[in-house]
Amino acid sequence: MPVYLDHAATTPMLPAARAAYVDALGVVGNPSSIHSQGQQAKRMLEEAREAIAASLGAEPVEVILTSGGTESINLGVKGLFWKRAPRRVVLVPGGEHHATVDAVEWLASHEGAEVVTMPVDELGRLHPSVLAAALERHGDDVALVSLLWGNNEVGTINDVAALVAVARASGVPVHVDAVAAYGYLPIDFAAVGAAALSVSAHKIGGPVGMGALVLARAWEVEPLIHGGSQQRVRSGTQDVAGAVAFAAAAASTRPFPEPSFVAELAGVRDRLVAGIRDAVPEAVLRGDPAPDGRLPGNAHFTFPGCDGDSLLFLLDLAGFSVSTGSACQAGVPEISHVLLAMGVPSDEARGALRFTLGHGTTAAEVDALAAALPAAYASARRAGHATRTPAPTAFG
Ligand SMILES: Cc1ncc(COP(=O)(O)O)c(C=O)c1O
Repeated sequence: MPVYLDHAATTPMLPAARAAYVDALGVVGNPSSIHSQGQQAKRMLEEAREAIAASLGAEPVEVILTSGGTESINLGVKGLFWKRAPRRVVLVPGGEHHATVDAVEWLASHEGAEVVTMPVDELGRLHPSVLAAALERHGDDVALVSLLWGNNEVGTINDVAALVAVARASGVPVHVDAVAAYGYLPIDFAAVGAAALSVSAHKIGGPVGMGALVLARAWEVEPLIHGGSQQRVRSGTQDVAGAVAFAAAAASTRPFPEPSFVAELAGVRDRLVAGIRDAVPEAVLRGDPAPDGRLPGNAHFTFPGCDGDSLLFLLDLAGFSVSTGSACQAGVPEISHVLLAMGVPSDEARGALRFTLGHGTTAAEVDALAAALPAAYASARRAGHATRTPAPTAFG
């Protein structure tokens, strides 16, 4: 069985979520139906919404169930933009997930948005002073700010509470992409004060195809999908089984996440970081080196003189599932726009590899990865560099 170190891409479903999913699939009834079977389905759905809300420090009425992180982000970002017309400026830090990058690019090309990319530091972090300066510069024309809680590639955590406080002082709503942070950091939507926040079930041990946009009572978004108005701003028959399974993952521990899970995971992650540094001293840790400044399951390195994909394939052959962290376009690997936004030169960025740990990852597994790395690195260096597409310049 290969060693799975790609939990940020998707984490295996928790047994409790799988069992709840299978049971709930046997329930007949549309939760919008009036008869008792429909009302039974509705009760299951609303109990699930309560559990999901509790895991996020939100009220059930604020939880809009969606098909995943990408839909939630599109609804949060486009929906706030349209509601805030005629304001046109969208502020985003460099190195956001493609769900945000591509949604705001679309707003720029189709809806007249002016997208302003704010610089992040060399660790990938947006500083409140940079946000304050951008808000000051664009004044009343700012429609919204959208930013990551934790970076899905390099793991750097933003000080979301401080950033939201800066925007709120100007009356500007903030959408937070918490997809990578959810399940790994405690999330308290009410305390943070964001207008909207996106999460995804398959990153926490729930099913693929389920997510949520948490939308504060005080804010409205323009819907993306029109129809039966089953939820406040999202139409479509609701997926009871998906919601029940999502809730089972979100309620798998109280509090969520369990502090001991986070501490143990960070310990294994630190062991992996030390093991990689011993095995390949030239490897450079990217993102925040401070253990508390990065997501507890994330270790991200660049390996000089080789391509991350070559290393990925060689490690795959050796029985380890890892990721370069960045996208592929038409089969050609893209140089990470996150690393470029952090100021990493493109020849160094080519050698990126992301290791993400999650439930079930053991010390023995990360030791085995570190032991397999020198041989894979030596082969990857001999292979040299493949052709790469440049990252989209507007967001680099
Ligand atoms: C930070 C971040 N945002 C958004 C997404 C998209 O989520 P989904 O796969 O549920 O559409 C991901 C998924 O990798 C992510 O890591």
